[in-house]
Amino acid sequence: MNKTDTYNTLIKTVTSLTESEDNLIANLSNITAAINEQFDFLWVGFYLVDKEKNQLVLGPFQGPLACTRIPYNKGVCGEAWAKNSILNIPDVHAFPGHIACSSLSNSEIVLPISKEGMVVAVLDIDSKNFSDFDFDDELGLKQLVQHVETLF
Ligand code: SME
Repeated sequence: MNKTDTYNTLIKTVTSLTESEDNLIANLSNITAAINEQFDFLWVGFYLVDKEKNQLVLGPFQGPLACTRIPYNKGVCGEAWAKNSILNIPDVHAFPGHIACSSLSNSEIVLPISKEGMVVAVLDIDSKNFSDFDFDDELGLKQLVQHVETLF
C-alpha cells in the first residue's frame, strides 16, 4: 500500500471509530492508536489548548513519556498554535526553541486543530528519521485533521 492509500485507510478507520462515540478523549485516544497502527512513528499525540493558562496540555498519545505543558509560542507545538499553521520540521535540532521530549526524535510535524477559527488543540508527530514527513504526509494528515476538527 502506498502512503496515500495508507492515509485513506486510516481516515476510514478513524471515521468509523468515532461515528458512534461523542466523548472527545475516547475518540482522540483511539485516533492516536489508529495512527500508531498504520505508521512506525516515534510519538503521536494531541496537545489541548488550556485557555486559562495560555498553554498546551498533554492529551491522548502513544509513545514515550512526554512533557505535559508547553507555553504559547514555545517549541514546535506552541509555534504551530501561535501561527495557526502546519510546521513540518525536517531536523528538530536545527529548530530554535525545540522542546526535546525524547532524544530519539529527529523530525516532527505539528498540525493545528481549529474550531470556529480558534486553535483548540494540535496534533504532534515525532519521527526517529530526519525529513520523515513529505507532501503526502502533510496532505493525509491535513485530511485527518479536518475529520478531527468535527469531533471538538
Ligand atoms: N517537540 C515538541 C514537544 C512535544 S514532544 O515532541 C512530544 C515541541 O517542540 O513543541
